[in-house]
Amino acid sequence: MKSKAIYPGTFDPFTNGHLDVLERALNIFEEVIVVIAENSQKHALFTIEEREVMTKEITGGYLGVSVEVLHKGLLADYARQAGAKSIVRGVRQVKDFEYEFQMSLLNRQLYPEVTTVFLMPNVKYTYVASSIIKEVAMLGGDVSKFVHPCVLEMMHQKREELNLKHL
Ligand code: PNS
Repeated sequence: MKSKAIYPGTFDPFTNGHLDVLERALNIFEEVIVVIAENSQKHALFTIEEREVMTKEITGGYLGVSVEVLHKGLLADYARQAGAKSIVRGVRQVKDFEYEFQMSLLNRQLYPEVTTVFLMPNVKYTYVASSIIKEVAMLGGDVSKFVHPCVLEMMHQKREELNLKHL
């Protein structure tokens, strides 16, 4: 049986840091499902459909990668149904760890066969977070080093949409 993992996140938007983690996951697992989910503690800039479009475009050339959307329900249930026994999460800094530790143990409580695997991105991405990328981009800053051109384009469109709304 092929080794299968899920790589869940809000991906709002998908950054080069996320791609770096995905590439590392592909060195370990034959199949990785990128699962775009909602985080009840965050308000997303992009709709889940927009995030799906960008993530599919970015990862389309990678063998063994698929992109799925979790509209509602628990990630642990999704992993069980998908037959994935590993959850991949990227950790950039020690401060990420408290939240990750809590999520990992909760997911294990809900689905005892699942193990969360933490991967560190390249050091050049340790300060790259979707939240900060969005903030800089929405204020007109250059984030082209941190995201795929399709994300740049979608952020540009989003900025125009939001500016129009506030006119
Ligand atoms: O990129 P994020 O925002 O850190 O990802 C968090 C995410 C989406 C993986 C988490 O909020 C999640 O798993 N949401 C799905 C619902 C769920 O299972 N919540 C309980 C997590 S212990």
